Amino acid sequence: MAVRKIIQYPDPFLRTRCRDVSPSDPVLESVIRDLRDTLLSSPGVGLSAPQIGYPLRVILIDLSRAEGKMPILLINPIILAMDGPRVIREGCLSIPQYTANVERMEWVRVRGIDERGRDLELTATGLEAIAIQHEVDHLNGVLFIDRVSSLKRDLFRRKGYKGPMPALKK
Ligand code: NI
Repeated sequence: MAVRKIIQYPDPFLRTRCRDVSPSDPVLESVIRDLRDTLLSSPGVGLSAPQIGYPLRVILIDLSRAEGKMPILLINPIILAMDGPRVIREGCLSIPQYTANVERMEWVRVRGIDERGRDLELTATGLEAIAIQHEVDHLNGVLFIDRVSSLKRDLFRRKGYKGPMPALKK
């Protein structure tokens, strides 16, 4: 069990552009285990390797609690296509103080490698598609606040969050 501390905004590590990782790289075992353990102990539906300190292109989406779906682990994910713009309220485990209205796409087609090193291609819709877009953004150092059109109008204090609010800069 290795629950990692989730790196918090404005830590510059969140702006890292992550690198591809070979499916045979021995570090993957710890990355995947830590992603699973950390996400399981967090109130979120997705987590990326850079949020727990690995500058590598690995994401985990877990909607099993929210929608009863099987978790998706993707190494080196590439979004092949996406469509269906919609505005949704979104948050991030690295910026827990805020939620925001963000424009995302309703469906995505994504390709990557699974944890056994096999090619994996899938189509996702709804919350699953949005979580994939959010986590792939993390691999490029992009945060959801970067996709908010107006920090003044579209940003909100998370309901029930008490404590200091960091100033946000895109
Ligand atoms: Ni996030």
